[in-house]
Amino acid sequence: MTRKPIAVRKAVDSDESALALVYRTAFSAEPYKEKWTDATARLRVRQLIQSIDGKGWVVTLYGHPVGFAFLQMKEGFNGRYGELVETAVHPYLQRQGMGSLLFQEVLKFKKKAKLHTLYGVTLNRKLGSFFKKFGFKPSSRAKIWSKT
Ligand SMILES: CC(C)(COP(=O)(O)OP(=O)(O)OC[C@H]1O[C@@H](n2cnc3c(N)ncnc32)[C@H](O)[C@@H]1OP(=O)(O)O)[C@@H](O)C(=O)NCCC(=O)NCCS
Repeated sequence: MTRKPIAVRKAVDSDESALALVYRTAFSAEPYKEKWTDATARLRVRQLIQSIDGKGWVVTLYGHPVGFAFLQMKEGFNGRYGELVETAVHPYLQRQGMGSLLFQEVLKFKKKAKLHTLYGVTLNRKLGSFFKKFGFKPSSRAKIWSKT
């Protein structure tokens, strides 16, 4: 059987190890520089896979997961909307169209599930062109507050 080199499918429990590596590598790199370990990244990925109830996708290279997108659905006053919780592609494989494949899948789901809006929060200021490519606009309403 020949396998398509690059494919997108739903995330499953057994993706934990591969996605933990992607997660740790992507968010330890610029501009995040977060101090993820294999153990903490595994916990985060497990939480994503288990809490997201099927709204998670992975991009695979020769069957091996190298990127992911997770979406959380919420009920709003005027219907359902979605929040992109986490998206990443392994840094070695970025800028080769894999993040776009994931977003195409998310947008298909948006249509199927009749979500009226998708929200994406990112600390990465360079990703404006990525979001704009898929029709996202900067929000004039949102402001993020934090307390440590
Ligand atoms: C965001 C991310 C998933 C995009 O995945 P990707 O596979 O690199 O994206 P693509 O190759 O499909 O990029 C499509 C377009 O988006 C834009 N883009 C993507 N990454 C970009 C970057 N780092 N800087 C500027 N533009 C970028 C470009 O216009 C690009 O097209 P081009 O390469 O032809 O110029 C990836 O950069 C990533 O994992 N980043 C680290 C984690 C992160 O910041 N996640 C998002 C917030 S949680």
